[in-house]
Amino acid sequence: MKLTLKTTLSNRARNALALTVMGVLAVFSYSASLVAQNDERSIPVPVSINALMVTLIDHSAHYIWDYSVMEREISADEWRTIEYYAIQLAGSGPLITLGGSGSLDNTWADSDAWISYSRTMTNAAMLALDAAKNKDQGLLATSGDVLVASCEGCHDAFKPGTPTEGITHAPDYDYLYHLFER
Ligand code: HEC
Repeated sequence: MKLTLKTTLSNRARNALALTVMGVLAVFSYSASLVAQNDERSIPVPVSINALMVTLIDHSAHYIWDYSVMEREISADEWRTIEYYAIQLAGSGPLITLGGSGSLDNTWADSDAWISYSRTMTNAAMLALDAAKNKDQGLLATSGDVLVASCEGCHDAFKPGTPTEGITHAPDYDYLYHLFER
């Protein structure tokens, strides 16, 4: 009887130990899978800042500037166009803080000044978005000024004399801009 009890107890102890080990293993594999999930949730930017500048940022900013200096009244369709480009530009600020595939992109994105210029650019685009929502041409003009300052400030601080990948707005990408005028 005594022996049976002892056996039972030691079986229980073994079971408890096994459960503990399983528990610890489960916690380990859970945290390992969390790390894997986090890796899967972060997508390295596969294109360069040079390319994004030309095809996305410069492209959308030019529409906003064209309308920001317009003296006649802006039509409802045009306000919608401004809204679209303001959204693209607002989203591109955070995007360029993630770095990119260009040789200097990740170094640039590591700098506080880079983040600050990107934030100013996004804020300027949000002003343009507000202007579009309220059909406010005065606010659109202000957003255009804040926008120029953000581009120029960052370019003075970071932009090399010749683009690292040789991508410029003209002539290769010029036709994008003129699509709208057709
Ligand atoms: C946070 C910094 C930053 C901001 C903000 C920024 N740029 Fe740039 N831009 C750069 C850098 C750096 C390059 C050079 C990229 C390279 O050479 O790889 C560049 C390149 C460019 C280029 C292509 C290169 C060339 O010489 O033509 C254009 C066009 C451009 N930017 C337009 C703009 C416009 C327009 C804005 C504002 C609406 C703007 N950028 C805002 C940093 C910035």
